[in-house]
Amino acid sequence: MGKDISKTTHTFLFCDGGSCQKKGSEQVVRTARAYLRNNGLWNTTHTIKTRCNGRCEDAPTCIVNSNEYWYKELTPEKIIPIVKSHIENNQPVEADLLYQKGWEQMTSTKELAPFKPKPFELKNDEELGECFITKGFSSDQYLYPLFLFLFENAEGVILNLINKTPIQFKDIISVDYSNTHTLELTTRRDTIELTIASVPKENKELQQSKISSTEYFYQKETQQTGIRFKNKFGKLIGKIIFDSIDNKVWEYCTSIQLLNTKLDVI
Ligand code: FES
Repeated sequence: MGKDISKTTHTFLFCDGGSCQKKGSEQVVRTARAYLRNNGLWNTTHTIKTRCNGRCEDAPTCIVNSNEYWYKELTPEKIIPIVKSHIENNQPVEADLLYQKGWEQMTSTKELAPFKPKPFELKNDEELGECFITKGFSSDQYLYPLFLFLFENAEGVILNLINKTPIQFKDIISVDYSNTHTLELTTRRDTIELTIASVPKENKELQQSKISSTEYFYQKETQQTGIRFKNKFGKLIGKIIFDSIDNKVWEYCTSIQLLNTKLDVI
């Protein structure tokens, strides 16, 4: 029988993301679970391994009672006093806290500067000619929202993939990201696959098709705006172009995808 959640007094969410694993999170979880088992607390508590908590710089991390207490830089030695303090006294161990609900700021000493795209730079590009260009983000956390937004705001947006007939976004009838690595764009005639998730190093075919570079450009002579995709070897995968710089999709690109990196050419 599963755990009776109505009897649970405390929930510990241990980060099991890559950075926390590298810093020993598995030993922290095992220590906490062994403590709970051996002290008759198993049935009244719950431990969950989560994916990245978004605080890799403070790894390994743990959240107690969903969003109330966030712990940082955990070790097997630190975790038992923390678990005990919550269960026995309903109190956190302040020295190890990264954040607790109600605080105005975190106590991290390892805060990293937020990553921002570089400003648009005027370049003489081999393919695009004289253009303002900057790099955006290429993880699926950016690319999937980008393609969804373009699908929902399709007017004047064209997809040009290498060796394929150009496709008007308004001819796309669905955008589906349920495969492990690929996004599927379906029209009435065809389904196009784009590799947007991280792919295994040994899979050369997926490495070739994976979008690893996303560049936003404005061509000076034609005033054409768009997005260019390349793989990690610098090979062109395709482009998206917009009918005008006034298309709201371009505004979305600079504000959401490029985190307010404005193009100032006029
Ligand atoms: S991997 Fe644990 S906070 Fe990111």
